[in-house]
Amino acid sequence: MTDPQPDVSVLYSAAQIRERIDEMAKGIAVNIAGDAVIISLLRGSFMFTADLVRALHGLGMRPRIDFMSLSSYGSGTESSGTVTIDRDFKVDVSGQPVLIVDDILETGRTLDFALQKCRERGAADIRSAVLLDKESKRVVAIEADFVGFVVPDKFVVGYGLDYDNYYRELPYIGAIEVA
Ligand code: IMP
Ligand code: MG
Repeated sequence: MTDPQPDVSVLYSAAQIRERIDEMAKGIAVNIAGDAVIISLLRGSFMFTADLVRALHGLGMRPRIDFMSLSSYGSGTESSGTVTIDRDFKVDVSGQPVLIVDDILETGRTLDFALQKCRERGAADIRSAVLLDKESKRVVAIEADFVGFVVPDKFVVGYGLDYDNYYRELPYIGAIEVA
């Protein structure tokens, strides 16, 4: 593996992430229906989703998977407050158990919005899994059902998470200094 980039201080290594996702998958597999529909929130959760669904497969789950691309960030690091749909999911969730998967829960606006969409479309039982929880920044009273790591109030990148669309490819998660 390549050395960490000098501007990124590592919080969770690739091995730590793998181990935690395996634990999360066990919790998910015993608590939600094996054929639940997974709605993955792009773009940040692409890597987490890819690893999580493979772990769930190993535990016998057979989810259907779709994606919804939401944005609330501009190019900076502060949430703008309004969530917009850049790409909607197409799978019919009516009467189905749903698991919403996101990279990080911060203000809660994104997850709240996604939950609302799934509710409007008649999902039967909606749960959520986030790899990271920056709980100190919450604005909307919402918690995820499955959480990987609670992170400090730092701007984190890697493993799908970006700063201005950079750093997504890193196999680990780290913090960067932002102006
Ligand atoms: P929320 O709507 O404020 O909860 O923000 C959730 C979304 O903001 C996540 O899905 C991320 O895409 C993005 N986000 C929040 N905090 C960070 C961070 O520290 N690094 C990178 N993206 C973040
Ligand atoms: Mg996101």
